[in-house]
Amino acid sequence: MSLRLPDSGAETDVAGRRHAPSAARNAAPLADLLRDVLPASGRLLELASGTGQHAAALSAALPGWIWQPSEVNPALFASIRAWAQDAPRILPPIGLDAAQPGWAAPLGQWDAVLLVNLLHLIPQGAASTVLEGMAAALAPAGRAVIYGPFLRQGQTTSPGDAAFHADLQAQDPAIGYKELDWVSDRLAAAGLTLQCHTMPANNLALVATRG
Ligand SMILES: C[S@@+](CC[C@H](N)C(=O)[O-])C[C@H]1O[C@@H](n2cnc3c(N)ncnc32)[C@H](O)[C@@H]1O
Repeated sequence: MSLRLPDSGAETDVAGRRHAPSAARNAAPLADLLRDVLPASGRLLELASGTGQHAAALSAALPGWIWQPSEVNPALFASIRAWAQDAPRILPPIGLDAAQPGWAAPLGQWDAVLLVNLLHLIPQGAASTVLEGMAAALAPAGRAVIYGPFLRQGQTTSPGDAAFHADLQAQDPAIGYKELDWVSDRLAAAGLTLQCHTMPANNLALVATRG
């Protein structure tokens, strides 16, 4: 039995775990990518963890990693905790607004910082702060992984993406898909170089390292 939450498209099961369809769809390709680009062990900070589905599925795929979920919305902590039950390598969620300048400083350095499906939902200035913070939070040999939809040379890459981008901009002209070259430039300004991986459904996974 599950309760439909009309605001998000997610459902909550009897264990208190919210289920977002998009997180269910992209968990397996993300797990494959992370297994390829991350070393065998380390500490990972996940920004904008949402339901907690990715913390559960992706940390299960990376048995050497300690996983730190975080979220700006405390209403999601219960779901993140529920997904993390029986997963001792997932730490309790922390409250984190990744669009708040300076957010990385108190958190120390991480072997990986993961961000899935946030940049298109926030204004460009906020996205810039998120990217700067990800660079600041990385240990010297760390990797930042950013997954989502992007504009390429100013264009969306499918009719569905064009419609979603237009819908976001109709809600708020300041938000919508970010240009891949702009993201790459912001990360370069923070001392990171980028490898771009194509993912299902026209999404990209950007893997950034120092140097
Ligand atoms: C589309 S959901 C993606 C959730 C999860 N990463 C996933 O892919 O299933 C966007 C998430 O970003 C969170 N969020 C929005 N603004 C944020 C911010 N400034 N800092 C951290 N998280 C934020 C929202 O609360 C929401 O959980």
